[in-house]
Amino acid sequence: MFSLIIAPLVYLAVHQTTSASAFYVPVPVVAPAGAPIISPSLISFSIEQDRWPEWVGTTTPNQYFYNLLDNLNILSGSYPWIRIGANSEDHTKYDPSVEYNVDITPAVTPTVPYPEATNITVGPAYYTLAANLPPSTHVWWGVNLGQYNLSSAYYESMAMMSAFASPAITSKGITLDFIEVGNEADLYSSNGARNSSWNPAEYVSEWTQFAGNVSAANNLYSLTNPKLIGGAFANSAYNASGFSPEAIFDLGILDTAPGSLIRTISQHHYSGSFCAGSASALQDLMDKATIRSNLSAFIGDIETVKGYGLDYVFGETNSYACHGAPNVSNTAGAALWALDYSLYAGTIGASRLFFHEGIGYKYNFIQPVTLNTSILDGTPLATPLPPHIQPQYYSAVIAAEAIGRSGNTQMVEISIPDQPYLAGYTFYVDGALERAILINSESYISTEAGTPRTELSVSFNFTGPATAGRPSFMDIKRLNITYADDTSGVTWGGQTYETPDGRVSGPVSLETLTAGQAVSIQETEVVMVSFR
Ligand SMILES: *[C@@H]1O[C@H](CO)[C@@H](O)[C@H](O)[C@H]1NC(C)=O
Ligand SMILES: *[C@@H]1O[C@H](CO)[C@@H](O)[C@H](O)[C@H]1NC(C)=O
Ligand SMILES: *[C@@H]1O[C@H](CO)[C@@H](O)[C@H](O)[C@H]1NC(C)=O
Ligand SMILES: *[C@@H]1O[C@H](CO)[C@@H](O)[C@H](O)[C@H]1NC(C)=O
Ligand SMILES: *[C@@H]1O[C@H](CO)[C@@H](O)[C@H](O)[C@H]1NC(C)=O
Ligand SMILES: *[C@@H]1O[C@H](CO)[C@@H](O)[C@H](O)[C@H]1NC(C)=O
Ligand SMILES: *[C@@H]1O[C@H](CO)[C@@H](O)[C@H](O)[C@H]1NC(C)=O
Ligand SMILES: *[C@@H]1O[C@H](CO)[C@@H](O)[C@H](O)[C@H]1NC(C)=O
Ligand SMILES: *[C@@H]1O[C@H](CO)[C@@H](O)[C@H](O)[C@H]1NC(C)=O
Ligand SMILES: *[C@@H]1O[C@H](CO)[C@@H](O)[C@H](O)[C@H]1NC(C)=O
Repeated sequence: MFSLIIAPLVYLAVHQTTSASAFYVPVPVVAPAGAPIISPSLISFSIEQDRWPEWVGTTTPNQYFYNLLDNLNILSGSYPWIRIGANSEDHTKYDPSVEYNVDITPAVTPTVPYPEATNITVGPAYYTLAANLPPSTHVWWGVNLGQYNLSSAYYESMAMMSAFASPAITSKGITLDFIEVGNEADLYSSNGARNSSWNPAEYVSEWTQFAGNVSAANNLYSLTNPKLIGGAFANSAYNASGFSPEAIFDLGILDTAPGSLIRTISQHHYSGSFCAGSASALQDLMDKATIRSNLSAFIGDIETVKGYGLDYVFGETNSYACHGAPNVSNTAGAALWALDYSLYAGTIGASRLFFHEGIGYKYNFIQPVTLNTSILDGTPLATPLPPHIQPQYYSAVIAAEAIGRSGNTQMVEISIPDQPYLAGYTFYVDGALERAILINSESYISTEAGTPRTELSVSFNFTGPATAGRPSFMDIKRLNITYADDTSGVTWGGQTYETPDGRVSGPVSLETLTAGQAVSIQETEVVMVSFR
């Protein structure tokens, strides 16, 4: 059981705040009709495959990474799904004489301190390392389409099928759910993988050839899994005139033999890019309106995909492309962004988001191995940094806890149109109101130290049939962030996950209010309300 510490006044005294009078937000006590059921693994991970063995461990599991995945399972009853592939997927060859992998990696630059390998050669045991994942983890893996070498796709798929049929993996219930054929193929003409005549029709033709080989060679037509991922484009034209789900459906991809195995359409999305080293402001990332405009652009695509009975995921995503922006992607403010972004994506029909991670990337939730050079500019660190989390990990914790272990949690956004920085979501279990999340995304950064921190005061106006009853009490849990640009020192309900083994530490700290009382929320804060 949780230990209960009631200390709201201490908290308010520590931070000088300016408080507005309370305003009401409507909260239905029963789930609105059509509220989507949210996956307990809504926040999942995509791993750049060039350094996969370091993530998962070789002769023994990487226990730090394992524990961080297990924390989320403890909260939600489900491990995050793991997608392995991405840019290096299209630069990977297979050689049976290699044990795990051999990488050729370009030079470090201040803009790209942890570059991904440009040539990756993998062998059989590379895939078998999936046995080091937690039990019953769902996996999807990419094969190479970019280099137009059918042998690579064929041998890679055969090796992963063989690995996932091995007792080391089957005995733990770890499954290969999907194979992805090619990463961000819409970019092939701009990244040199194809010439200027590359278009959706050529893509569908080549995808069908490669996916057809992989499917026939591995007899996928008669197996329950894996099935195939469709799309995995970097962008969407949102219509049939460019690369988009609409375009490939119109070109008949689903009517091809391998296309009949597509169960999920994957879309990649970043809010912008750091590829050219351009700086960006943390408040811009956290902004409530741009989170919504970034994602709502995909609503038409999502409806089209669901119209075909297929699932839709953001199969590779994070704040800013090219591994994140320094002092933005690696901060506590980015945790608020990731939480609002993920929950909002859930309300528009995405069933999972796979946050992209690579060794030393600025936007990681998890740094799974010791780092010896700065993630910000590649300079040597005076002291190596042991494996650690970055603040965004707390967004996965909060989402997992808010969704919970019911397996039947519905979620809706609370309408708060007049508040440009306040977002809210309610969670229903078996149709009944259980929890709410409030996110105040106004950034309070370290240069504002000593200036008053603004605070909003929110009252809930419970709506719905009187027969459904009303909550009496609310337990309040806070994500405590000193400054939005902090890169550590964040606590959730007084507890920290910034521990050597990645396990949560410290007593839980909650406040209890009656259901009629207003809930305070400072700028740069998340509050979870549990109703009872
Ligand atoms: C094609 O792929 C196979 C298997 O990955 C590899 O051995 C071979 O070198 C590749 N061919 C070229 C031209 O890269
Ligand atoms: C890396 O692969 C590319 C083709 O993808 C090839 O042209 C290049 O020679 C390789 N580099 C090395 C160092 O092997
Ligand atoms: C592009 O490549 C395709 C396929 O290899 C070829 O048929 C076409 O002629 C090329 N187009 C140009 C403009 O080079
Ligand atoms: C798939 O491609 C590989 C490599 O070219 C070839 O050896 C194999 O026979 C093909 N399998 C099928 C089923 O087409
Ligand atoms: C398709 O979308 C693009 C923007 O992505 C737009 O420029 C174009 O006009 C649209 N075409 C049609 C036919 O709607
Ligand atoms: C997406 O968000 C970024 C801020 O992170 C913003 O600069 C950009 O304009 C947004 N794009 C859209 C289409 O809303
Ligand atoms: C990031 O923050 C660090 C520590 O405050 C600072 O030294 C560095 O100059 C900043 N880097 C950029 C690119 O803003
Ligand atoms: C940092 O150095 C240690 C010790 O040499 C090594 O084990 C580790 O892999 C290095 N980290 C990275 C990311 O290369
Ligand atoms: C609560 O909601 C009801 C129904 O929408 C509305 O009539 C009432 O004015 C609201 N109360 C407050 C205090 O906002
Ligand atoms: C929040 O963090 C600050 C600074 O680390 C600390 O002084 C304060 O007690 C914390 N508040 C709560 C409620 O944990």
